[in-house]
Amino acid sequence: MQAANTLKTAARQSNILYGAATSPRILSADADFSSEVVAQCDVLVPENELKWESVEPQPGVFDFSQGDWLLDFCTKNGMALRGHCLVWHKQLPAWAGSVTTAAQAEDQLAGHIRGLVSHYAGRLHSWDVVNEALNPSDGRSDGLRNTVWLNALGPDYIDLAYRTAAEADPEAVLVYNEYGLEAGTSDGNARRASLLKLVGGMKRRGTPIHALGLQSHLSADGFSASKLSNFLKQVQDLGLKIFITELDIADQKFPANIAIRDTDVADLYRQYLKTVLANSAVTTVLTWGLSDRYTWLSSTAPRADGLSVRPLPFSSNLLPKTARDAIIEAFAAAEPR
Ligand code: G3I
Repeated sequence: MQAANTLKTAARQSNILYGAATSPRILSADADFSSEVVAQCDVLVPENELKWESVEPQPGVFDFSQGDWLLDFCTKNGMALRGHCLVWHKQLPAWAGSVTTAAQAEDQLAGHIRGLVSHYAGRLHSWDVVNEALNPSDGRSDGLRNTVWLNALGPDYIDLAYRTAAEADPEAVLVYNEYGLEAGTSDGNARRASLLKLVGGMKRRGTPIHALGLQSHLSADGFSASKLSNFLKQVQDLGLKIFITELDIADQKFPANIAIRDTDVADLYRQYLKTVLANSAVTTVLTWGLSDRYTWLSSTAPRADGLSVRPLPFSSNLLPKTARDAIIEAFAAAEPR
């Protein structure tokens, strides 16, 4: 087998799709970065441009311009595009969720999903339909997050979302996307238990759901390989595919020294991907960004020492890092799907 020298060619050797989150704003403004994205990725996901505040800023008034630009970019460059995300408690326009009756909430939610999914029907890799519906610290026995949709419609808002998406695009691959499922903590234990109950119930009711999105925002706190492996087997046994949807590593707690820090980050990428890729249901891996030049962690998880964060496979100068090598190694070591 020929040694792969890009992330996508390494992933392809195990029939895995690799890609990254990015934005039309960045791709259209930064030609060097755009070229590296095309060289490394087989699938993209818009970091923000298909979220409710971006695509339906006013009720029933859709703006698909950003999503269409990105889909066109992907099509021209032979890449797939993921949809992210239809239902979330964040990045909502002011009008969405400001409801007084369940009927109003259902109209808003179903109208948004129908309008967006039907526009892209048959053209996307998959949709994150509901994002981050779990929040154990809200204290509910089902582990669900107290969102405007749960408060207005009860837990049935989730089935409503998936059934509406499937009606709008019967061929769509519908994903439930969540964070914190890899942690060995009590929160991670609670999240995994609630997720299995949630998705198990959806499968029993015949609700159309096809894959679990494991966001995989890691840090020096690490993860529990044994708990994660067991959990992924249970998800696979439910008949779901598994996508690694937002992989990155916050490096605040790693040493300042760049050589040591890059090695620590690379080791964690290698360990995590070895664990998840051991499960054949894992078919798609996206990092939440490709280069340290553009990462949400610069603003949301800065280092106390003020040094630039280094969470992704490529440096801010678009040079491959040891993390890139570690990810290629993990893809190469993975059994073909
Ligand atoms: O668009 C406005 C712009 O008009 C304004 O000038 C600027 C000034 O603050 O803000 C811009 O909005 C920002 C938006 O990203 C678009 O760039 C928001 O402030 C900012 O909070 C928002 O952050 C995004 C975050 O989701 C929102 O929670 C991050 O870029 C994005 O990486 C992050 O992605 C999420 C996934 O969707 C779900 N999983 C977790 C992941 C990380 O939080």
